[in-house]
Amino acid sequence: MADVTPDITIVEVGPRDGLQNEKRLVPTGDKLALIGLLRAAGLPRLEVTAFVSPKWVPQMADHEAVLRGTPPGEGLIRSVLVPNERGALAALAIGVEELAVFTSASETFARKNINCSIAESIERFEPVAKLARQHGVRLRGYVSCTVECPYEGAIDPEAAARVALALSDLGCVEISLADTIGRATPEGVDAMLSAVTAQLPAARLACHFHDTFGHALDNVDVALAHGIRVFDSAVGGLGGCPYAPGAAGNLSTLPLVRHVEANGFSTGVDIARLREAEVFADSLRG
Ligand code: HMG
Ligand code: MG
Repeated sequence: MADVTPDITIVEVGPRDGLQNEKRLVPTGDKLALIGLLRAAGLPRLEVTAFVSPKWVPQMADHEAVLRGTPPGEGLIRSVLVPNERGALAALAIGVEELAVFTSASETFARKNINCSIAESIERFEPVAKLARQHGVRLRGYVSCTVECPYEGAIDPEAAARVALALSDLGCVEISLADTIGRATPEGVDAMLSAVTAQLPAARLACHFHDTFGHALDNVDVALAHGIRVFDSAVGGLGGCPYAPGAAGNLSTLPLVRHVEANGFSTGVDIARLREAEVFADSLRG
């Protein structure tokens, strides 16, 4: 890992947001091999799995084995997605540096993805936030469908800002703003980020782009102009969301690294090693 703090922090979500959407069940050993390659590439933050219901997302059913198989590392933040207190307790019993809760700026998407309203989801996260505080681990919050929703269409930027603020009030140290289906245009992202940054400083925000229509890197540029310096991406552009019809892969990590480095930002990522991880990730596709 680089000694100097990089300008841009990349949150690698491939093992979770990438593999959750694969049709074939990826064996636990292959997930751990992928995580090992991503660590070797110097990615400082890894979302390794999701402690969600295996009935809802069968691809993440081996979450305990994946987290157990991912030992802590110096400077490494292992993050897991948790929908409720039960997921948080199970992850904390194994050991983790970050819990990530997830809701949406779209009521319909919240219902389809986590089977509750946005307000109910925030209530459900309260015990998770309490546990995070008690255990001294970071709490991250996701807002899905901040610009476009597969069910509701365009989302009011103020709705995204309200949910981001609610997650901040809950205790999330970082809020990741997602274009879940990759339909957001740079103009839409600009409007959404203008609304959110009127409520919260850019230093507390991350952006999570999917690349369905090839807008992701343009959207990164808009986010950079708003002062965002944390970006989520998935190795090899793996992924999508099982409850977001039309969601294609996530923004791919290697093009993201190349893009921001070409624009003068450092990432601390070893490109040759990342390429090795990408080749392996490609071999896991169903
Ligand atoms: P529910 O059916 O309303 O609640 O699900 P439930 O309490 O009745 O639980 C259903 C079953 O799951 C029960 O099992 C529970 O015990 C079990 P049964 O009694 O029927 O045998 N269960 C659990 N099992 C393991 N771990 C748990 C857990 N909790 C309950 N933590 C629930 C509600 C939230 C659990 C469900 O809707 C769920 O798990 N949803 C997760 C959906 C998901 O993971 N979606 C993909 C990730 S989000 C995403 O990709 C977007 C993101 O990338 C950003 C972006 O791009 O937008 C983050
Ligand atoms: Mg996603």
